[in-house]
Amino acid sequence: MIQLIRGFKDILPGEVELWQYIEKTARSLFEDFGFKEIRIPIMERTELFARSIGEDTDIVEKEMYTFPDRKGSLITLRPEATASVCRSYIQHKLYSKDPVQKYFTIGPMFRRERPQKGRYRQFYQINAEIFGVDSPLVDVELIFLMVTLFSRLSVSDVETHINSLGCPECRPTFKAVLSDFLTSSTGTLCSDCIRRKDRNPLRVLDCKVPACREAMAHAPSILDYLCPACSQHFETVKTALDAMNVPFTIDKRLVRGLDYYTRTTFEIQTGSLGAQSAVAGGGRYDGLVKALGGPDTPATGFAIGFDRLAEITGLNCNDFIKTPDIYLAALGEKSLSLAFEWRSALCLEGIKTEMDFGDKSLKSQMKRADRLGAKHVLIVGDNEIKQGSVILRNMTTKEQVLIPIERVVENIKANLGASPQLE
Ligand code: HAM
Repeated sequence: MIQLIRGFKDILPGEVELWQYIEKTARSLFEDFGFKEIRIPIMERTELFARSIGEDTDIVEKEMYTFPDRKGSLITLRPEATASVCRSYIQHKLYSKDPVQKYFTIGPMFRRERPQKGRYRQFYQINAEIFGVDSPLVDVELIFLMVTLFSRLSVSDVETHINSLGCPECRPTFKAVLSDFLTSSTGTLCSDCIRRKDRNPLRVLDCKVPACREAMAHAPSILDYLCPACSQHFETVKTALDAMNVPFTIDKRLVRGLDYYTRTTFEIQTGSLGAQSAVAGGGRYDGLVKALGGPDTPATGFAIGFDRLAEITGLNCNDFIKTPDIYLAALGEKSLSLAFEWRSALCLEGIKTEMDFGDKSLKSQMKRADRLGAKHVLIVGDNEIKQGSVILRNMTTKEQVLIPIERVVENIKANLGASPQLE
């Protein structure tokens, strides 16, 4: 039997209803906060991701699904959405009417990481991006939106971590200081970090190898090197988070795994997912739109790991599974064809209906109705039809009523309307 690819997964009925609910809740929040949906392709030219995320990141170095198309150009399955949303903002001049644009997008991403709990090679993200506002208040708005979504989904055990990565003015000084520190700790660093310490020393702060983490415990903090403007920006973020009652932890090592960030970075972390503690992450990326050939536009955004969110939500999958309002149990050929007609008519009226298309006994059809959790069974037998009415049985109260077959759909609707069973 052909199995699915390692690190990929099916989201099966029974689980997908929870995903739908999460998506519905996120969409409604995005709408309230003035975000518009944008849909971007799942493949882009490799160059877009290499230039945006950074050549020296794990994602670009090791994790992208990149291959030549039939004409030889290199294309990549998107490992994230931010680069594509920027590409789209620039390509379609979405800034021309109003530089301030707020987008959200939901969909699959691809990274060839080592699969484990909470880490997949195809995973889903809920993304938000805001273009054209440099105020720290929109960074806070994004964090507030995420935290609100999490609480609406009964997610507990999450913490907000924040940091600032400075700007092209103050970061070089910090990089130089960090580089010196790393040179003095070379003996304890992993081979990746030794290679990166000169080209991209910030990456070392993010390394998950225990020896590197230990060495980095005493590393200098970027917060001590922020220029006055970045420092002021970070202060406002903290004050506004306090004012919005969003608890947070300052995490001087939160550099994130992508190179485009400036100033505010943040992550929502959980203790419920083992090694994969980040449920969501994001931050400001004021230089990216310009670097990709667009106008100089500040921007900020986040991505929530949908799979991880679904795994830690306090909601129960079973609460979202819709059971049939009516199961039509037909007995006999004539009954089957009538029941079939009624079923379509009932479905068109928004009444969730199921039936069996075979020649099964009443007992076996009742069993199936029970298994499906049907709220009512309509028993349609040739004898009943001859007498001009069919039986509607309430599966909870076991009460049975006769329904005239003339204008049967209206009669059923009227009956269900009177019944507390109908949602
Ligand atoms: P990221 O931190 O790379 O940021 O990913 C965001 C979230 O996606 C993570 O916190 C995690 O929950 C989820 N995620 C990442 N990799 C995997 C995986 N292999 N399996 C399951 N879940 C995963 C970004 O992608 C940025 N584009 C966020 C952003 C938007 N920054 C600004 N705007």
